[in-house]
Amino acid sequence: MHRPAIRVEGLSKTFTLHNQGGAQLQVLRNVSFEVHPGECVALDGASGAGKSSLLKLIHASYLASAGSIRIDDGSGAVEVGTAAPRELMRLRRDVIGYVSQFLRTVPRVAALDVVAEPLIEEAGDSLDRARDALQQAEGLLRRLRIPARLWQVPPATFSGGEQQRVNIARGFIRRKAVLLLDEPTASLDADNRITVTAMINEARQEGAAIVGIFHDVRVREAVATRTYDMRQAL
Ligand SMILES: Nc1ncnc2c1ncn2[C@@H]1O[C@H](COP(=O)(O)OP(=O)(O)O)[C@@H](O)[C@H]1O
Ligand SMILES: [Mg+2]
Repeated sequence: MHRPAIRVEGLSKTFTLHNQGGAQLQVLRNVSFEVHPGECVALDGASGAGKSSLLKLIHASYLASAGSIRIDDGSGAVEVGTAAPRELMRLRRDVIGYVSQFLRTVPRVAALDVVAEPLIEEAGDSLDRARDALQQAEGLLRRLRIPARLWQVPPATFSGGEQQRVNIARGFIRRKAVLLLDEPTASLDADNRITVTAMINEARQEGAAIVGIFHDVRVREAVATRTYDMRQAL
């Protein structure tokens, strides 16, 4: 009845190492799984198993060597490997949220604006909605314990954990049907880990389909509805 939000079928990924005489490195072989709305699948596997690569493939930052990745955009399944650039941009803006391991900082943009940007973009010309976006951004930064004195500071000089929380706030400010989380709690203290765990579960309960890498066993057990063992992938 319900369509899967993410459908991965026969996915393989081989990197060509150009600085090593074109050597081939296969990291994923024949990966197939589906994620439905309201599920959170934890990718389980050792360092180097291809977990981050799998998230980047779903986000279409990497191109698959073989196989198919389809994302339900609300009206139908979009094949990310062959989607036109405009369609990919729309998919990333409206459907797929991706919290990478590290915040890509933009010089001179304040933390508050970094977080609010995805909503401001959606607000278009509406001043009310832009104001509302900033308020939501403040709410998230407060919830994630970023002190107010840092809100107008560009995050480039923030600590690793502070940058990670700005990244999480930005990734969660718009409700997305698909969420890809790459070790979102890796450098967080206990209180913030608990907060992020709650945010992940709230998103899932609101119907997000989540694929994540959760290094911390406590976090994984608290958020994952099932596990995908990466050893199946090679
Ligand atoms: N862009 C890339 N080019 C070449 N090799 C890569 C690239 N990205 C990842 N790899 C290699 O693929 C393997 C899996 O990496 P990754 O997906 O980051 O693993 P994990 O997240 O499970 O630790 C590693 O051996 C890594 O060096
Ligand atoms: Mg990784």
